[in-house]
Amino acid sequence: MAENDGQLTRILGIETSCDETAVAVVENGTTIVTNIVASQNELHAQYGGVFPEVASRRHIEVIYTVIDQALQEAHLGVDDLDCIAVTKGPGLVGSLLVGVNAAKGMAIGRNKPILGINHLEGHVYSLWLTEGSSEFEFPIVTLVVSGGHTELYLVKDHLQYEHLGGTIDDAAGEAFDKVGRLLGLPYPGGPAIDDAAQAGNERAFRFPRAVLDDGLNFSFSGLKTAVLRESKRFESGRLPVPDLAAGFQAAVVDVLVAKTKAAAEMYEAKAVHLAGGVSANRALRREMDLSLDIPVRYPPPILCTDNAAMIAAAAHHRFIAGQRDPYSFDVLSSLQL
Ligand code: KG4
Ligand code: ZN
Repeated sequence: MAENDGQLTRILGIETSCDETAVAVVENGTTIVTNIVASQNELHAQYGGVFPEVASRRHIEVIYTVIDQALQEAHLGVDDLDCIAVTKGPGLVGSLLVGVNAAKGMAIGRNKPILGINHLEGHVYSLWLTEGSSEFEFPIVTLVVSGGHTELYLVKDHLQYEHLGGTIDDAAGEAFDKVGRLLGLPYPGGPAIDDAAQAGNERAFRFPRAVLDDGLNFSFSGLKTAVLRESKRFESGRLPVPDLAAGFQAAVVDVLVAKTKAAAEMYEAKAVHLAGGVSANRALRREMDLSLDIPVRYPPPILCTDNAAMIAAAAHHRFIAGQRDPYSFDVLSSLQL
């Protein structure tokens, strides 16, 4: 690929695929100038999950304020930007539309180039916002683990991906959220289980590890059912929450580590990257570090969960490769990478 890594860019990213209204400015795909994330977690906690209609309405209410705030913090105007990048999918269609329409409005109004970015590619590029990214060597095995996805990719070079495997049922984060709910923990379940598990014994319960025969795919729905079955043996109010949380988390982590390690060996990866909300999980990071003898990298927590800096970082590589989208591009709620 004819890529000029030396080209300087300043790109504004917008991310509204789920329940975070996020705007960021990133330079050269590596340096965050500003990164604002307006989370809707509190709004959705009362429903125990993301309520799509509520999410898109909230995005509409706050998107222009968040864009203004990002530009003010960066001391920049729209004319100082090389490109507007926005998540075009996958995600909730009503939520995606708010970001894409705001981005189009800015780009058309100020005659700026626009790029629609795949949210999963954004998670892959969140690692390039960490220290030392100019030294990264390919191929890299990247595990994207979030509320909507559990995907293993072989990243062969910039913008060149091979999908190695994914979940056949629940995403890892979805399993964390569902188990969190059945343990009576606050939404989102992932961080709550991570915290609760600190005080638990992961060997108190032995939950199943679905090591599917077909290579690098994942399955988490059986595990969730096993936790449900186990928790029904206790009277309400007497659930051993820390032990159940630790046992469940250990089962998820074991499978994620085993498959990622297998992929890294199979493709002789130079490094393993973890991305997405679940990559903030402390047990996952620890076990991955212990199990692999190649570098294991993960973003800081603010860049694990949804953010717009990663969208701008991915856009940098498309922009310097000469890519531009027409102002007429559409959102794609089931886009794959
Ligand atoms: O990447 P993200 O913000 O949104 C999606 O694209 O889905 O990921 C959100 C998911 C939620 O399921 C949340 O429970 C999970 O990431 N999560 C965690 C942790 N922090 C967030 N799961 C496990 N441990 C954590 N520390
Ligand atoms: Zn995400």
